[in-house]
Amino acid sequence: RRSWAEPYKIKAVEPLHMTTREQRERAIADAGYNTFLLHSRDVYIDLLTDSGTNAMSDRQWAAIMLGDEAYAGSENFYHLEKTVREVYGFKYLVPTHQGRGAENILSSTLIRPGHHVPGNMYFTTTRYHQEANGATFHDVVVDEAHDTSSDFEFKGNVDLAKLERLIDEVRADQIPYVCVAATVNMAGGQPISMDNMRAVRELTARHGIPIYLDATRAVENALFIQERDEHYAGTPIAEILKEFCSYADGATMSGKKDPLVNIGGWLSTNDPDVYEEARNLVVVYEGLHTYGGMAGRDMEAMAVGIRESVRDDHMKSRIGQVRYLGMLLEEWGIPFVKPIGGHGIFLDARAFYPHLDQEQFPAQTLAAELYLDSGIRAMERGIVSAGRDPVTGEHRRPKLELTRLTIPRRVYTQAHMDVVAEAVKECFDQRESVKGLRMVYEPKYLRFFQARFEPL
Ligand code: F0G
Repeated sequence: RRSWAEPYKIKAVEPLHMTTREQRERAIADAGYNTFLLHSRDVYIDLLTDSGTNAMSDRQWAAIMLGDEAYAGSENFYHLEKTVREVYGFKYLVPTHQGRGAENILSSTLIRPGHHVPGNMYFTTTRYHQEANGATFHDVVVDEAHDTSSDFEFKGNVDLAKLERLIDEVRADQIPYVCVAATVNMAGGQPISMDNMRAVRELTARHGIPIYLDATRAVENALFIQERDEHYAGTPIAEILKEFCSYADGATMSGKKDPLVNIGGWLSTNDPDVYEEARNLVVVYEGLHTYGGMAGRDMEAMAVGIRESVRDDHMKSRIGQVRYLGMLLEEWGIPFVKPIGGHGIFLDARAFYPHLDQEQFPAQTLAAELYLDSGIRAMERGIVSAGRDPVTGEHRRPKLELTRLTIPRRVYTQAHMDVVAEAVKECFDQRESVKGLRMVYEPKYLRFFQARFEPL
């Protein structure tokens, strides 16, 4: 097999900061052992997230100069609207400052207290807005998604039996929509198949329930469909994406991922009534319905980024880099979620630290250890991220206790991936001496962002 390479060359560079072990010890203690609270100047390779960390192309930077900064009716809005219509296929567009802005508007438009919202696994901000509007969230993802040892190829699939059981139990009129994420972030960036999406569409159509996609990484999902479903082997990603979206009634989008920009988002829908209500709400929370919290130049850069994001060569290189890192870790027997997902490697912190209880925060601990070793910044996706049950007030104890190495798009090189893999190996070799953390400050909402810890 021949090597792959990035389908671009580098035109501008940004220096990285290296630190000493002593500096890192001080920095992580000051940050309460929470990588979200580190200053980025103290970070060497930043794998906290793939959100808003993308490198823009020269075409996108050129587009920035075409910003039409009118309060109302910016030219860039119409360009973005046309692009979303053509690439994703949705009719109406409501721009927002980022994904959670769209989630807020969708949830307050469709959810009433007592409603039930099924989803293929939760995402932190998405579930927050559903619950804040009075709904109960129900995880209807296939069981394989919660099993780090399963190598099922479409771990993002909806379990149709679970969904049907829920519809029978709570009745269709209490389900304002089914939330389908592609790919599923919390399961490790795992895809949902076209067949499954079509089947969810058929089932919900019988009951008159709409589907709203979390389309944040839907282009990445399309690559997996191209690779794993022989029916789509020769189909361009752009076409796969469009068919996939045709089974949904609309979508929320964080422009900070697939669309290759640093800020922005949108809500789209084919339903004129939802559009009407969302367009009313957006002016309250985000800004006028032709900018929604984005500058004109940001909308222009996103319109260009969306076109770049659906190119097969881009997506192959993007996911190819994640796989390269995964293959190195695999060779060294490091435990992580398989198959390798779209936007990062999810280390299995339970398998790193079998001697720690989940309430000693193994994934949070691993993120801190990795930073201490080499200045690499990862993110907890385990019990801290899962938060507390709104009814019982107890920790939700997710099966998955993961530390995420998230790869920003077009930012780091293969040599950086080598360095990351070596650092993870070092932490793995030292795993037995690690003692865990205790939480000393816990915020009320989305606690993982600002919680503070101390070593045990
Ligand atoms: N949906 C998914 C699947 C996401 O991954 C995110 C953000 C959002 C919605 C919310 O979008 O950040 O633009 O408000 N995920 C980031 C992450 C924060 O690091 O995984 P946002």
